[in-house]
Amino acid sequence: MPKPVRKAVFPVAGLGTRTLPATKAVPKEMLTVVDRPLIHYAIEEAKAAGIEEFYFVTGRAKSAIEDHFDIAFELEQTLRERGHGELLDELNEWLPAAGQFAFTRQQRPLGLGHAVWCARNLVGDEPFAVMLVDDLMVGEPPCLAQMIDAYRETGGNLVAVVEVPREHVRRYGVLDVVGDDGRLARARGVVEKPEPAEAPSTLTIIGRYIIQPEIFDHLAALKPGSGNEIQLTDGLQQLISTGQPFHGLRPKARRYDCGDKLGYLEANVALGLAHPQLGAQFRRLIQSYL
Ligand code: UTP
Repeated sequence: MPKPVRKAVFPVAGLGTRTLPATKAVPKEMLTVVDRPLIHYAIEEAKAAGIEEFYFVTGRAKSAIEDHFDIAFELEQTLRERGHGELLDELNEWLPAAGQFAFTRQQRPLGLGHAVWCARNLVGDEPFAVMLVDDLMVGEPPCLAQMIDAYRETGGNLVAVVEVPREHVRRYGVLDVVGDDGRLARARGVVEKPEPAEAPSTLTIIGRYIIQPEIFDHLAALKPGSGNEIQLTDGLQQLISTGQPFHGLRPKARRYDCGDKLGYLEANVALGLAHPQLGAQFRRLIQSYL
């Protein structure tokens, strides 16, 4: 049995340039899909996968994320006085318990690999999950739970993957596949943002990872790669080079890329239509526009 995954790292220090002007002062992770911010969905997914400790790598202008984890006394008081106890329960049920979460800072946005490295002292010497909050995953069981199940079989490093059209591979980390049963693919390499003609496959990494702690030493030694950033994918490649297993799981889940304006709109429509209270009315509303 591989060591269990108890900790998750949420790198939330990116600049969010593709979602400007919405993300000038509001962090991308606080953008709302239907009635809750993206960070909310990610924490729910992590909890459903048995994650016990939540570590956020934040940056400048991200204090709204930290505030979201506070108890809002005035709000509590007002909700109680107005008899909205159920809303209060919902708010508090979501919050990780005191001491179960922590924030560290990435002082400069030097890349995803660097952001993950900033969490090294919080993670210590055990496997951990990385969740990119702007990839909203909707599935049952939730995506990270499916990955942890698969990790019990594979051990090593495991990422969520999707097949994309070849012309899109230059936006992603791409797997060099040596075995594939249609659900799990085994890789002998990964490459960040390759040119379509040079990409080893069209199987690409999306925002969920299970990683062994040895990656921190490799990330510390990395030089900036694609886009002049320290790339997490390059750290993963180093782990493969040292002989650690590396697999990609095609999760049974729908992915909404909320770091992109169209993907974000799609998420709102899809989750709005599926919303237990608002769905039926929202469907009629949407139809009236078509
Ligand atoms: P993105 O590639 O989406 O970059 O980062 P971004 O800066 O957030 O957004 P755009 O592309 O400018 O619109 C992928 C993930 O890595 C985090 C981001 O917060 C996001 O979750 N990240 C990226 C960091 O935490 N630090 C970095 O230096 C870069």
